[in-house]
Amino acid sequence: LDNVITLAIETSCDETSVSVLKNGRQVLSNVIASQIQQHKIFGGVVPEVASRKHIENINQVINKALLEANVTFNEVTHVATTYGPGLVGALLVGLSAAKAIAYALDIPLNGVNHIEGHIYANFIEDINLEPPFLSLVVSGGHTHLILMKDYGVYEIIGKTRDDAAGEAFDKIARALGLSYPGGPEIDRLAKEGNKDAISFPRAYLEEGSYDFSFSGLKSAVLNHLNSKRMKGENINRADIAASFQEAVVEVLTEKAIACGKEMGINTICLAGGVAANSRLRNMLSKRCQEESIILKYPSIKLSTDNAAMIGCAGCYKYIKGFKSELDLNAIPNLKI
Ligand code: KG4
Ligand code: ZN
Repeated sequence: LDNVITLAIETSCDETSVSVLKNGRQVLSNVIASQIQQHKIFGGVVPEVASRKHIENINQVINKALLEANVTFNEVTHVATTYGPGLVGALLVGLSAAKAIAYALDIPLNGVNHIEGHIYANFIEDINLEPPFLSLVVSGGHTHLILMKDYGVYEIIGKTRDDAAGEAFDKIARALGLSYPGGPEIDRLAKEGNKDAISFPRAYLEEGSYDFSFSGLKSAVLNHLNSKRMKGENINRADIAASFQEAVVEVLTEKAIACGKEMGINTICLAGGVAANSRLRNMLSKRCQEESIILKYPSIKLSTDNAAMIGCAGCYKYIKGFKSELDLNAIPNLKI
């Protein structure tokens, strides 16, 4: 591999991010312009607002990433961009910018699946990590147990049948009157609560299934809140946050461990925004230790949406000889 300089762009949701990487795994810069403040007042991401903000931000974020990396446009040899899944208007901003750069500089472009990108954050964090491993991808839109057999080769072992883990965090946070995004808020509040205060249901589904379901848990928490309110009883938000979080984390942990054991895979890589959850990191670390499984997880910055992970995934596609055409379109419901 000789000096591939990748410029990577990620605009699938509410972060405008651009990164410059050397040879796929060395991050020279990873600039993230968050739109959280703009969306907070609406209690969630407003797609139209997201697209507009990306348009306002993209050129500045590209320039900042190049500046921080001390790389000029002409030194860039490869472009990577998320083309799905995500909000179509948001995706199109980053995709269009990436295509324009690839065209103007006459350099190869690789479209990257956002979920795949989350897994690759682990390759940046640990320079020696190699597949195969099992990845638990938990984000605002996705909850997947994926066996990564080789670079670009995946087998989906399980996925959510209804809400994604992050989505459940965000919805319960909203019901508790916490601000968007709810995951970090619940994580914080749960530290002041008792995780055993309320016993919420854990959906393990059929014997041997590695699928997930969080809608029953969500209903149980909402019912608990409603009944407390109707009876005029005191609501302990910290206890609810802690008990809810425990139910989510326990199922995620036990399914990942059982899956790793059954498949004889001794490495698990956490990925996605919910990988930032402190209780998930703790419980999974403890259980992995007990089962002699190696656990990897990215830093918080590389767990939530960022362009560095997209650049890493894109660079491996490039190394393998793949190249996207300039008519590449955004695919909002792209599957891994
Ligand atoms: O990966 P990500 O940044 O965007 C998507 O691809 O969806 O994930 C965002 C999700 C949100 O649902 C957010 O609430 C959740 O990750 N999240 C957390 C934590 N930090 C972010 N969930 C639980 N605990 C956290 N500390
Ligand atoms: Zn994401």
